[in-house]
Amino acid sequence: MDYSIESLSLDKLQSDCVLVGVYENQQLSPAATTLDALCGGLISKLISRGDIKGKTAETLLINNIPHANIERVILVGFGENGKVTRKQYRKALAAAIKTVKDSKVKSASSALLDVVVEKADIAWQARQIVEVFNDGIYQYSATKKCDDKLPLQTIRLIANDSQIALANSGLQQGVAIAQGVELTKQLSDLPGNICTPSYLAEQALALAGQHADLNCEILEESDMEALGMGSFLAVSRGSRQPAKLICLNYQGGDANAKPIVLIGKGLTFDAGGISLKPGLGMDEMKYDMCGGASVLGILRAATLLNLKLNIVGLIPSSENLPDGDANKPGDIVTSMAGKTIEVLNTDAEGRLILCDTLTYAQKFDPEVVIDMATLTGACIVALGRVPSGLFGNDDELCNDLLSASETACDAVWRMPIWEEYQEQLKSNFADLANIGGPDGGSITAACFLANFAKDYRWAHIDIAGTAWRTGAAKGATGRPVPLLSQYLINRAG
Ligand code: BES
Ligand code: MN
Ligand code: ZN
Repeated sequence: MDYSIESLSLDKLQSDCVLVGVYENQQLSPAATTLDALCGGLISKLISRGDIKGKTAETLLINNIPHANIERVILVGFGENGKVTRKQYRKALAAAIKTVKDSKVKSASSALLDVVVEKADIAWQARQIVEVFNDGIYQYSATKKCDDKLPLQTIRLIANDSQIALANSGLQQGVAIAQGVELTKQLSDLPGNICTPSYLAEQALALAGQHADLNCEILEESDMEALGMGSFLAVSRGSRQPAKLICLNYQGGDANAKPIVLIGKGLTFDAGGISLKPGLGMDEMKYDMCGGASVLGILRAATLLNLKLNIVGLIPSSENLPDGDANKPGDIVTSMAGKTIEVLNTDAEGRLILCDTLTYAQKFDPEVVIDMATLTGACIVALGRVPSGLFGNDDELCNDLLSASETACDAVWRMPIWEEYQEQLKSNFADLANIGGPDGGSITAACFLANFAKDYRWAHIDIAGTAWRTGAAKGATGRPVPLLSQYLINRAG
């Protein structure tokens, strides 16, 4: 999709389709008022007739406009004038792009920057238009013919002279983040027989090939063996696909600036191993690599924005399958950190691959380490599918992430990792057990990881409930790419 800023006024504009905002109580946005005058009062007539009430996310397509250069108009409802929240704005944008899609136009012009949004500026609004629209037009096509390919090719954001500078910077950020999200969704939606650890590694190498400051190195199982990653390798024993530890290095900052290390769980399929999962919905465990795909998406955004930061991306990637050679409940493995782990449930495999990656991260002398993982079903029980779970050993880092999540509209909710929970991870036969019983499962998983992240500032984001949608709209969401991209933008200053 091609996104650009258009500074023409509505009377000079030539367009297949113009989007303008309307409010409750028959109120029009400035753009709608102008257009109404250009069309002999058609818009106010339709509104007073009650065809659209102006409620948030209501839309009305007007197919026939008495105007020489504008073919169609879509009225978009934003609720009460002066009280539009950021969430409402995004909700209305999502409805708007759906109506654009249904109308089969080739290009659309959005005059939605003049809708006043609480706690938002024009840059934020421009960015959201790009992000929400790009999300709405995503089509999965890797293994399925798209019968009706979307004709939409260009989206123009109409901005007046005073808005243009902010609109441009917002658009630029929006395009970078949207491309990161798109990459993450594309990889995440692929089936496990295509998206294997080797495939993810190839994609990482290809991404690195697109930017001079981004390098990629793949650690093979033999390398991991030499490093003593007994915990990670225990998970991949049951799989015929070789495990990979994908290491990306982006040098956008000063040569000696400490890097921000991002770690993403890259389980390309999680059957549970010998502790086999139930069959219902097991297909969704192809999404157990969403954390890894997010790291690639975030690095895509960071390189597109040429962020002045050093970033290391680490993606431990494996399958978790049952096999005669798979690890078994009761097995004891030795992690790279030297701690022994009793594998009481082979389905708690994410923490087993992450703990060795957390230890490996130390070699980069990190500024901070942030991991993202579809780690626990318990996180969905605790928080539902609205926020991701946030855990961490440093208040400043957690607060930075909370504030980035507000701006990005990519919610997180902080959870405790108090030492009391460590009791649940005690084992009679090893330094740690890999599960902590039925209570507080997302917390004990985070507490397990905390044992391997003691030497640096660390946060863990459990995205089990937020990285994909289930049900009829099954598909990846690209979260938490917006959150982490915002965090990096804020860090780059
Ligand atoms: N990948 C799953 C977590 C998961 C479950 C994510 C459902 C999204 C939806 C993880 O590897 C797992 O299986 N966790 C177990 C842990 C348990 C055995 C302690 C879980 O959540 O059931
Ligand atoms: Mn599992
Ligand atoms: Zn898993």
